[in-house]
Amino acid sequence: MKPVKLSSVSNKINYNSILADKVQDLKASGSYRYFLDVNKSAQHFPKFYFEDFEGRKSQAVNWCSNDYLGMSVHEEVIGRLSFVAHRSGAGSGGTRNISGTTNYHRQLEQTLARLHDKEMALVFGGAYLANVTALSTLGRLLPGCVFVSDERNHASLIEGIRMSGGTKRIFRHNDLVHLEEILAGIDEGAPKVLVFESVYSITGSISPIAEMIVLARKYNCLTYLDEVHAVGLYGKGAGIAAALGQSASIDIINGTLAKGFGTVGGYIAGTALMMDAIRSFGKGFIFTTSLPPAICAAAQKSIEIVQAQPGLELELRAKVARLRQHLKENNIHFVDNDSHITALPVGNATLCKQLADTLLHEHGIYIQPVNEPTVQRGAECLRITVTVRHQEADILLLAESLRKVFANRPDVHTLQRESTHAQTR
Ligand SMILES: Cc1ncc(COP(=O)(O)O)c(C=O)c1O
Repeated sequence: MKPVKLSSVSNKINYNSILADKVQDLKASGSYRYFLDVNKSAQHFPKFYFEDFEGRKSQAVNWCSNDYLGMSVHEEVIGRLSFVAHRSGAGSGGTRNISGTTNYHRQLEQTLARLHDKEMALVFGGAYLANVTALSTLGRLLPGCVFVSDERNHASLIEGIRMSGGTKRIFRHNDLVHLEEILAGIDEGAPKVLVFESVYSITGSISPIAEMIVLARKYNCLTYLDEVHAVGLYGKGAGIAAALGQSASIDIINGTLAKGFGTVGGYIAGTALMMDAIRSFGKGFIFTTSLPPAICAAAQKSIEIVQAQPGLELELRAKVARLRQHLKENNIHFVDNDSHITALPVGNATLCKQLADTLLHEHGIYIQPVNEPTVQRGAECLRITVTVRHQEADILLLAESLRKVFANRPDVHTLQRESTHAQTR
């Protein structure tokens, strides 16, 4: 067959120009994402080096890491990682059912099942993949399934529901009245899954888990809870449902090994039957290389350390309280909540980026601006996460730097108040 000469094709599609226009539009909206090289130091975390505009090395303090407990730089976790890597290699070399399951995977899954008081757990490459796989598989296995989903749910939950082919009904964030209205309106005979998070990742709001479980039971609805930002930090490492004594009432709990536990990977935990069904039919479990054995071993070590040290949880709480006290003293407005996530509403993507740039380049403070589509337009914010490794001096410097930067931008305070509404609802 003769190759087609591109020049001879009329009405040629200009792929590059279509893509360039899309990126340009995103830049113009202020929501384009810039990726900073955070040259992390295991020794000095949360301090790191980055290259400034002139290519000079500068130091900054990371105020947006999800390594809340500093477990990624914990000596024993690193030690376990390198020990097992030397024994088992850098990768698993296979998918879970084609030579990619090791005793490290098996032990980690048993540890996770015990952590959440469930019969079985399944480990995935990340919690994103775990959410997408679990929800899309459930939807395919339960014909006519209706997913009842909080409006602030994470992209991975939204994507899993979309891929399930089921129907989606959205309730207002943490709104029990709206949730019940929706549940009551769904055909009694239809399979239903209530999908929600315990700690919402950007604003840090916490869902009324016990009340939501009552409603789900009333309407014979399965419960799927994303505890990604809670595991390691609440309920002796097991999350908010565990802290409230509600783990047993949640059908499937999703968590990550990457944030509170400082490594990488995600998981779900539930009954042996549900896990077996998802394991057997879930493409994101079957058709992808399993986590490296060394990562499984390091994650397990991290969970063991966190469980044995309830003081870590308290230390983080104390640092969150210190941070908020200093913010108040410096007249910096934030969304108050019961979690460890502190969001400063800004309400404008361009301003958010400008503030973040000034903080980084003039004050050595790194806070990634949070823009659309992570949040809706008008709810842009600076999301601050304190870790157990931040010291009092770091917190002081952050609060004072924010005061100075905000003082130079009088529009910030007005916008902050306007956008709080979008953040707190
Ligand atoms: C609520 C929520 N669920 C799931 C994920 C995905 O977790 P992972 O990084 O383990 O893929 C994230 C990531 O930030 C998240 O915020």
